[in-house]
Amino acid sequence: MEGTARLGWSFDQNARRSKGLWMESVDMTPSSSTHIQQPLALSDSFTLRRLQTWDRMAVEALCNESFPIQYPDCWYDEVVSGGLLSTGLFDGEQLAAMVVSETKFLYDCNLEDQGILPSSNAHVAYILSIAVDKKFRRLGLATRLLNNLMSSLSDHPPYPRAVFLHVLSTNSAALSFYKMHGFEFHASLPEYYRIGEQLADGCTYVKYINGTYTNVTFTDVCRTFGNTICMPLKAICKMLSF
Ligand SMILES: CC(C)(COP(=O)(O)OP(=O)(O)OC[C@H]1O[C@@H](n2cnc3c(N)ncnc32)[C@H](O)[C@@H]1OP(=O)(O)O)[C@@H](O)C(=O)NCCC(=O)NCCS
Repeated sequence: MEGTARLGWSFDQNARRSKGLWMESVDMTPSSSTHIQQPLALSDSFTLRRLQTWDRMAVEALCNESFPIQYPDCWYDEVVSGGLLSTGLFDGEQLAAMVVSETKFLYDCNLEDQGILPSSNAHVAYILSIAVDKKFRRLGLATRLLNNLMSSLSDHPPYPRAVFLHVLSTNSAALSFYKMHGFEFHASLPEYYRIGEQLADGCTYVKYINGTYTNVTFTDVCRTFGNTICMPLKAICKMLSF
C-alpha cells in the first residue's frame, strides 16, 4: 500500500462506465496492471497514495458528503497521522476516494465481532471507512482501493484471516459493492448507528482470506451429507447398468 501509482481510465462513451484501469510508474503491488490500448476518451489520471496530515480537510469533506454520521475530530486525526492504514486516490490535487482500515487481533475487536473466527488470537482487518466523491462514483474507484487493500493484506504479515466491516442495513450501494467483492453477511446489528436522533440498524460483512475457511452453514452440511449418501448409490447404479 505504500508508494505511488498513476491510474488512468479507458472510458466507454455510450455507457458512462470505465472499462478498465491501467497503471504506470508502479512502486507498489497492484492487483492488476493491464494496459488498455484503445484511445482514452477521459484522460484523467489518478494518484494512489497514503493519506497525510495535510489531507485532513479533504478527508473530512469527503466523509461529510458520504456518510450520514459525524466522525469525531480525533478520528480524522488518526486517519491522517498514520495510526490507521489510510489510502487515497487523487484526481490531481483533489481527493476522489479513500479507504481506511486497521489490522488487529480479534480479541481486541468489539464483542459483537468476536464470532467472526473461532480463535480470538487470529489477526483480522477491519475496514473503518470507504468513500468515493459523488462525481466519481460507479467508475471503479472503490473497487480499485479495495483490490489494492486486499492484495496488501494477502501479501504482507500478519496475514489477517478475515476482513470485515459494518454497514448501515439500508445502504444498498455499499451492500451491493461488498457482495460483488465476495463479502458475506455475518450478523445483524440492531440500532447500531445513531443518525441525529434516530437509531438505525447495521450489519457485519466478512470476507475470509489467506486460506481461512468460512463458517460451515446448514446448506453446506446438507450438501456434504447428500453427496456422501448419493455417491455410493450412483456408483452402484453405474455398475448395475453395465
Ligand atoms: C459504496 C461506494 C464506496 C462505492 O464506490 P464506487 O467507486 O462507486 O464503486 P465501484 O464503481 O467500484 O462499484 C463496484 C460495484 O459496486 C456496486 N455498486 C456501487 N455503487 C452502487 C449503487 N449506487 N447501486 C448499486 N450497486 C452499486 C455495483 O455492483 C458496482 O458494480 P457495477 O458498477 O459494475 O454495477 C460509494 O457509493 C460511496 O462512497 N458511498 C458513500 C459512502 C459509503 O456508503 N461507504 C460504505 C460504507 S460501509
